[in-house]
Amino acid sequence: MAEDLKIVKGRKEEQYQSIYPQIEALLRGETDVIANLANIAAALKEQFNWFWVGFYLVKDEELVLGPFQGPVACTRIQKGRGVCGTSWAQAKTLIVEDVDAFPGHIACSSLSKSEIVVPLIKKDVVWGVLDVDSDTLAAFDEQDKLWLEKIINLL
Ligand code: SME
Repeated sequence: MAEDLKIVKGRKEEQYQSIYPQIEALLRGETDVIANLANIAAALKEQFNWFWVGFYLVKDEELVLGPFQGPVACTRIQKGRGVCGTSWAQAKTLIVEDVDAFPGHIACSSLSKSEIVVPLIKKDVVWGVLDVDSDTLAAFDEQDKLWLEKIINLL
């Protein structure tokens, strides 16, 4: 396993093209899901320096905070609540350009301005979500959706 990530600067596409195979290499041969979620969060944080990157996992019909990088966060989210709970309920990726305009958004930090949430789905069942927050408005678009879904598919 590589000990250090190679971090490139430049366009978002170039950054994803660089980090994707490195995440693939980090996950290769490792079957422990928490270890893999932790390394994905760390690699994405290091590459993009987003405000918050992490996972919530479905446990007893709630989302519970999992491996993450960034400031401390809310620990439990109900189904259908906030961006994460809505992504879970709808089983689809949500891009929120302005979190203040999203009804029911859960503000773990007032510094978070935009967000993307990607559901983790196995056999048609959502078992968690990847949540990424930025401290700038409209930081995420279809390109992030495509690449983050591709990264999640490595799990
Ligand atoms: N904003 C999320 C809550 C999780 S934190 O951003 C880490 C939401 O509305 O679901």
